[in-house]
Amino acid sequence: MPDRRRSHLVVLANRLPVHRAGDGEWHTSPGGLVGAVLPIMKARAGTWVGWPGSTSRTPSSWTHEGVRLSPVSVPEREMDEHYGGMSNRTLWPLFHDAIRAPEFEPKWWDSYESTNERFVRRALHAAGKRAQWWVHDYHLMLAPRLLRVARPYSRVGFFLHIPFPPEELFAWLPWRRQLLEGLLGADVVGFQTHAEARNFSRAARRWTRAEGTDHELQIDDRRIRVGAFPISIDVDVFESAARDPAVIARAQQIRRRVGARRRVILAVDRIDYTKGIELRLEAFEAALARGDLSTDRCVLVQIGVPSREATPEYVETRDRVERLVGRINGQFSTPGRVAVHYFRRQLPREELVSYYLAADVMLVTPLRDGMNLVAKEFIATRLDNSGVLVLSEFAGAAEQFRRALIVNPRDFAGMAATLKRAISLPHRESIMRMAIMRMMLRRHDVHEWAETFLQALERA
Ligand code: G6P
Repeated sequence: MPDRRRSHLVVLANRLPVHRAGDGEWHTSPGGLVGAVLPIMKARAGTWVGWPGSTSRTPSSWTHEGVRLSPVSVPEREMDEHYGGMSNRTLWPLFHDAIRAPEFEPKWWDSYESTNERFVRRALHAAGKRAQWWVHDYHLMLAPRLLRVARPYSRVGFFLHIPFPPEELFAWLPWRRQLLEGLLGADVVGFQTHAEARNFSRAARRWTRAEGTDHELQIDDRRIRVGAFPISIDVDVFESAARDPAVIARAQQIRRRVGARRRVILAVDRIDYTKGIELRLEAFEAALARGDLSTDRCVLVQIGVPSREATPEYVETRDRVERLVGRINGQFSTPGRVAVHYFRRQLPREELVSYYLAADVMLVTPLRDGMNLVAKEFIATRLDNSGVLVLSEFAGAAEQFRRALIVNPRDFAGMAATLKRAISLPHRESIMRMAIMRMMLRRHDVHEWAETFLQALERA
């Protein structure tokens, strides 16, 4: 057997953790994947193979905060079909309960295959023989098998950040067998929840030669461990931001400016149709209309992080959200008492933490979400155990945070009633709920997540 000691961790993910923005500076890329995996890679001084977001002015490789970055260059048309097409218009909607109809386009599949091959070629070139590979997310589901073929004795892990759909939805995919075989190249295939691990194992047993249980599959004399590894955040980083006097002062300023002695209800999402932003705004509107809530007593702050704006469904979502905000404000705002403050931008971490601290209630109400790290970030910042979290039962996070106020985002009446309950929850009850959630979060931070996954990979 080859010596696997001192193996070097190489992550393959669609995006590099930083991208060059319009100002020419490198900024952290949006989304939960980067937020979670970057601290791990910094701690391990690993190599990250990914797409730099554009082809212009990108060095061939460089080091960012201790992480070696290896950009993959992909021709524009191929990237459009791989990322804009197959990843975001086929797999993303299909894997999120088909909230939007997935499209099945053979040429997108061709580009998906060739892009996966490009990533693997780049990764093999960037890493030495002792690499331990960790492939992330739905853009690169063929990569584990390609790596296995090229390096039969290396350890290969795969983690899916988004949900894995039930068999009857996955069955729609014309390339279902190829995707499953791609994933079965890994030694460990990880998901956010047990239900998703089970969905995958069942699909693999049905459409490939794999046999076994929901936790362990065998194919061609290889064993594949399948399991739930709920992802988390770097709790210490958020806690120390929440202790920073400048962040606290800014939170007080935000409260004065938007709150004006009202209860502050906050929501922070990428502008994505899976996040349930429209239903949430409509529930808020209905509660105002019925007099369950009033703009004298509360204000909603919605931060929308721009996302995938080249995709029509995302532009439509953004338009609908902006029309709704306008409609609600038109009807319910009064001078000095705006009903909904809406900010479309990605905030730097300190500013985001100031908003978390300024809030009384946090709304995390996606229609479907792999985990949702915004919920965890909010909990991490509530050092005094204050604050109420309203959480969708369709976010992976709901499995861990039973003490949140759990809602079904499609239950309009239930959403409005929960909003009302959230802003008037007795202080003692909210403290008790938050304290338990904080304990849970502190026990399971992102370092523990990575440790658990990588140990499973070591033992594989
Ligand atoms: C989710 C996905 C990530 C993705 C992120 C941002 O968190 O799981 O893989 O990077 O959204 O989306 P984007 O399409 O901008 O990379």
